[in-house]
Amino acid sequence: MTDQPTVTVDGHAIPLLGFGTWNLTPEDARRMVREALRIGYRHIDTAWIYENEAAVGQGLQDAIDEGVATRDEIWLTTKIWVAHFERDDLLRQAEESAAALGTTPDLLLLHWPKPQPAWEETLGALNEAKARGLTRTIGLSNFPSSEWRRAQSLSEARLVTNQVEYHPYLKLSRLLETAKALGSSITAWSPLAQGKVAQDSTLIEIGRAHGKTAAQVTLRWLIQQGVIAIPRTTKESRAAESFDVFDFALSDEEMDRIHALARPDGRLGDWIDPAFQWDQEW
Ligand SMILES: NC(=O)c1ccc[n+]([C@@H]2O[C@H](COP(=O)([O-])OP(=O)(O)OC[C@H]3O[C@@H](n4cnc5c(N)ncnc54)[C@H](OP(=O)(O)O)[C@@H]3O)[C@@H](O)[C@H]2O)c1
Repeated sequence: MTDQPTVTVDGHAIPLLGFGTWNLTPEDARRMVREALRIGYRHIDTAWIYENEAAVGQGLQDAIDEGVATRDEIWLTTKIWVAHFERDDLLRQAEESAAALGTTPDLLLLHWPKPQPAWEETLGALNEAKARGLTRTIGLSNFPSSEWRRAQSLSEARLVTNQVEYHPYLKLSRLLETAKALGSSITAWSPLAQGKVAQDSTLIEIGRAHGKTAAQVTLRWLIQQGVIAIPRTTKESRAAESFDVFDFALSDEEMDRIHALARPDGRLGDWIDPAFQWDQEW
């Protein structure tokens, strides 16, 4: 697919570094997706709820038309919004998302776990979307370990990733173990802690030793764990900065120093349904 680092799940090579598009206006999404692909990114993340799938698809097509990449070199993820978890709604959205993107996504995620409808119905419909060719693979987002295991037990196809918040201020050891046990992967959302890592003195200091920024150190720390990272920016220079992480490596000691930045209140987006609980890490 591409010569940049990937994680292979169920025979699918997923680029470890992707480009996120949450909060990007359609105008910015089209511009930045095209730019990201020009820089070298081969993985793009969007969602129905971001209201920019059509623009993301246009940015993708712009880059393909310019000969930057072919469609099959790019990994494209979108997500089923929680209001669409009943079978007919899920299939309708899967069709709508593919139409808006102008191409079949490589990965379709359930955006957040939800108590109702019955999980048999939602997982069944997600598998049906795959069987109908509305996506190449399926997965989850924001599922704690026990919910992830339950979802996988109800899914015929492998759930190839669980996209969750992860950055240096969060501990994720249990979910990483679950990913391993299930033969799946973790994708880190808000990998830059929504920009906060840039001011972190430890990350700045580690970066100085490598001639890298705090953001680059953070992304390297994630991909060195085999975690997929999907940073987002409206700025071309920062998109280039975030992609420039393949020519250095962090030592075990540096990795540990970054793990030590985790804290119990490090979560930035605690929007999980109260029926569920994040894995207890502390
Ligand atoms: N599944 C989910 O529930 C979920 C939830 C949240 C996010 N996501 C996905 O994950 C992606 C990334 O997460 P995110 O957008 O929350 O946050 P992020 O990538 O951690 O951070 C983005 C913020 O950091 C700034 N930034 C980017 N590069 C920087 C750099 N090199 N130095 C300093 N600041 C920098 C950006 O500002 P500028 O634009 O000014 O550069 C932006 O405000 C999203 O876009 C989305 O695709 C998924």
